[in-house]
Amino acid sequence: MSPQNILTFPPDFYWGTATAAHQIEGGNTNSDWWRYEHQPDTLCQESSGDACDSWHRYEEDLDIVASLGLNSFRFSLEWARIEPAPGEFSVAALDHYRRVIEACHRRGILPVVTLHHFTLPTWVADAGSFEAPDIAKWMGRYADRVVGALGDGIGIACTINEPNIVAMMGYLYGVFPPNGRGWDRFCTVNETMRRAHGEMKDALRAGPGSFPIGLCLSMTEYQAVNGGEERLATWVEQMEDGYLRAARDDDFLGVQCYSRNLIGPTGPVEEQGVEVTDMGYAYWPQVVEYTVRRAAALAGVPLIVTENGISTQHDERRRDYIEEALVGLHRAISDGVDVRGYFQWSLLDNFEWVLGYSQKFGIVDVDRHSFTRTIKPSGHWYGDVARKGILAPRA
Ligand code: NOJ
Repeated sequence: MSPQNILTFPPDFYWGTATAAHQIEGGNTNSDWWRYEHQPDTLCQESSGDACDSWHRYEEDLDIVASLGLNSFRFSLEWARIEPAPGEFSVAALDHYRRVIEACHRRGILPVVTLHHFTLPTWVADAGSFEAPDIAKWMGRYADRVVGALGDGIGIACTINEPNIVAMMGYLYGVFPPNGRGWDRFCTVNETMRRAHGEMKDALRAGPGSFPIGLCLSMTEYQAVNGGEERLATWVEQMEDGYLRAARDDDFLGVQCYSRNLIGPTGPVEEQGVEVTDMGYAYWPQVVEYTVRRAAALAGVPLIVTENGISTQHDERRRDYIEEALVGLHRAISDGVDVRGYFQWSLLDNFEWVLGYSQKFGIVDVDRHSFTRTIKPSGHWYGDVARKGILAPRA
């Protein structure tokens, strides 16, 4: 290996892995997703059930994160547990998350805390979800309680995870709750998301604690096909540019990316004749370099790759994917793009929303009956890169 092939990342780089409450904790019975999973007409393949039982096993999860040599861990707080009824806050739930945060600090792991990751309390869903007139205010109030209880322990705060995906899947395509369909609804929810983010940011800024605040945006590499140029422009405005402009006032932007997307005259079209992952996405780790360059150009704030990964049963392909993603990321950083960290999605094989447990994004396998965790070879490899801050690509 010649020295020029060895890629060194910045010494203070955040090396992490990401999770979300509903996908790993289990028993999230007071949420809109749980209710949706159990409806007769649900599109969900199965219920989240006990998930990975991380509600009880978080110490074990964090032992794994620490043993791999990762210095950061992204997880989310469950609003449905923290505020089970309007204005009624659960001290016990907040105490639980305080213990999780403390368990991170004890291991020298930076807690990267997401306040909203797809799920809503059922009372919010009953009031209209992201179309409820007071949703932004409610999210601000929730953030206010969170920061009061946990702010002094938070390392980095992500207000809303993939607001654009919630808007698209929940209000345009009718796949996520509340199963809405309509272009105008989609656009309005995108605006509401930015207002809600603003309310949450203001609440978090008031402290206690002082930590960077941003949102996590789903980004991709778009390309117009079959005369889809006009559609592409409106699509990119809704999915990315509106958020990228709004992020200019934030402390950072979380970039989340997995693949590339083709846009035809009526919207996204499936790509033919390329390698696809188990999600049906084109295998395209180059998207990391592409999206961080695009986000830097449009948002102009520090970036963190808060999610990137691959669903595959072939763990060696996961290693390939992460390696290729990191090579591109390193190139962008070397060119001056301000990227502070990389969070692989996901620590555990977990509940992949409508697709249930069929998808394997984890660097750690979880036995569905015993919940036994087994680190995959890609996890050991990624941990080694993270520990050294050095990548020696094979090609
Ligand atoms: C984005 C979401 O934030 C996460 O919940 C999901 O599991 C992954 N991407 C993979 O689809």
